Amino acid sequence: MESHDDLLKRAKEQILAASTHDSLKEIEREFLGKKGAVAALLASIPTLPPEERRDVGKNANILKKAIQESLDARQAELAQSTLSAERSGDGFDATLPPKTLQSGSLHPITQLTRQLEDLFLSMGYTVLDGPEVELDHYNFEALNIGRDHPARDSQDTFYCDDAGDLSLRPHTSPVQVRAMEKLDPPFRIVAPGRCFRNETTDASHEHTFHQMEGMVIGKDISVGHLIGAMKTLLRGIFHRDVEVRLRPGHFPFVEPGFELDARCPFCEGGCSVCGRTTWIELLPCGLVHPNVLKMSGIDPEEWSGFAFGLGLSRLAMLRYRIDDVRHLLGGDMRFLEQF
Ligand code: DAH
Repeated sequence: MESHDDLLKRAKEQILAASTHDSLKEIEREFLGKKGAVAALLASIPTLPPEERRDVGKNANILKKAIQESLDARQAELAQSTLSAERSGDGFDATLPPKTLQSGSLHPITQLTRQLEDLFLSMGYTVLDGPEVELDHYNFEALNIGRDHPARDSQDTFYCDDAGDLSLRPHTSPVQVRAMEKLDPPFRIVAPGRCFRNETTDASHEHTFHQMEGMVIGKDISVGHLIGAMKTLLRGIFHRDVEVRLRPGHFPFVEPGFELDARCPFCEGGCSVCGRTTWIELLPCGLVHPNVLKMSGIDPEEWSGFAFGLGLSRLAMLRYRIDDVRHLLGGDMRFLEQF
């Protein structure tokens, strides 16, 4: 019969050479299993002379323990090397749960802009773009806002040069002028985009914000057409009929000019959004001033039109219940991830 020492030596050699958990299991079975070498040794005890039995039994247990320890040590080594192989990218474990994929989303202003563009396109409007750094002529002059007009002060403009010819546009209205120069009436346009004002920021004022300008030029355009277009717009945004009202408003490029209010879509009898009035100030608008038409080469005797300046940032705040305009362009991922 193989001696204890030989048996242990043979077991240890095999264990060291084993490179997989399965082959270790196989070795364990061979030496420590029910029909393994150690079991055979123990089974032989009754056949031995009585004076040898004690020693053989004791040594068999020592042997069993030694083999078990070698097995455990090798098992731990193998587990460690699998882990480091996986960490260094050599290994691939199909059972590991996948890393969650990070997916981006469109900014709420972009989402709203696209939705409104679709809506206006469906009503026969063309979507126009205009420069963000704009000439004085388009920002003010051609909009009937003369050099000394107080409206120029109220638009706290970021000027780009000392002469005041070039500035960051304080509204999207200059695109109206560019449209009148480029297009032959009749036409309908909207122009979404960024605007800039040099003002102190707070929860409802931001130096950079978004507007969507609208202009319709045609024959015999009236306030009725304006109201109709705005009601269609509101139905598209809130998915139901929304009551509107006009209050007088003054802008040099429209006559008459209005502030259009919409019935608060969030409540019946007053809430924090509408300041308990049930009305929400939605957008300034009006019939295009004859001077404005004339300055851009459109005959006011033949053509008339309406224009509106939708505050996209404001509308996004209403729509998504955002309480501070500064969240919109603040770049905080915790805010953006919600859209
Ligand atoms: N451009 C104006 C502003 O930002 C808003 C405005 C008022 C636009 C009346 C219009 C309009 O088209 O008709 O203060």
